[in-house]
Amino acid sequence: MSARWSDRQQAMLREMGVTLWLPPQTDAMPLPEAAMSEPAPAPAPPPVRMSRPAAVSTAPNPPSVPRPLAARPSGVAAMDWLALREAVAGCEACGLCRGRQNTVFGVGHAQAQWMIIGEAPGEQEDRQGEPFVGKAGQLLDNMLRAVGLTRAEAGPEQQVYIANVLKCRPPMNRNPEPQEVAQCEPFLKRQVELVAPKLILAMGRFAVQSILQTGEPIGRLRGRVHAYQGVPVVVTYHPAYLLRNPADKARSWDDLCLAREVLRGGGPAPA
Ligand code: URA
Repeated sequence: MSARWSDRQQAMLREMGVTLWLPPQTDAMPLPEAAMSEPAPAPAPPPVRMSRPAAVSTAPNPPSVPRPLAARPSGVAAMDWLALREAVAGCEACGLCRGRQNTVFGVGHAQAQWMIIGEAPGEQEDRQGEPFVGKAGQLLDNMLRAVGLTRAEAGPEQQVYIANVLKCRPPMNRNPEPQEVAQCEPFLKRQVELVAPKLILAMGRFAVQSILQTGEPIGRLRGRVHAYQGVPVVVTYHPAYLLRNPADKARSWDDLCLAREVLRGGGPAPA
């Protein structure tokens, strides 16, 4: 039994699919981190797929047809929670409203220390109006539990706030268009201001590249601390990607550990 990992944490890591190598009867064991940070001796890391992870369709986006945009709700930067939620619910600024069942605003503690930012709602999120409720969401919940966090009601130190860059589902889960991201981003910015988290965990290429305004791949952005609106940002793989590429769960665990360290004030300063 490791002195550093409780039975509960070990169970959580197993749920994440992270294998702990713990020899049964000796204290002279390798640290679990070491075991985990060596993802199964892969000959080469699997290529990071750059299509949107939650997507059912892997086809590239059809050429984008410029659509006339409705005006974005005004005054977003000064809205309170209620006004913001209503503005999102009524937004028609990018045209995705035409195919949505529900807007997906965000859930969690309004003063959470951790904010999780994903990409866009998928089919189930669109149906239920809540982010990350599908299979990827279950993995996200397990990952959060492994570091003592939850989306269930709790205090601001344990309960996270979860939001997406886009509040409406792109048709067929296609990749978000830049104009959709641009129209929707003020809502996310205001959510970040209102929550004022101590740390943002950005998941998946679109979320990461949108908030960090970069074209760099996740593989090169991981392991560093970035910033969004003055808040430290740690980036990691999207849970849907991890479902398809379980060998990278160990890297994702490293990212969670970095995020926890940053939140405790021990990580590198934001770049
Ligand atoms: N993928 C995301 O990025 N967000 C969700 O809410 C669901 C799937």
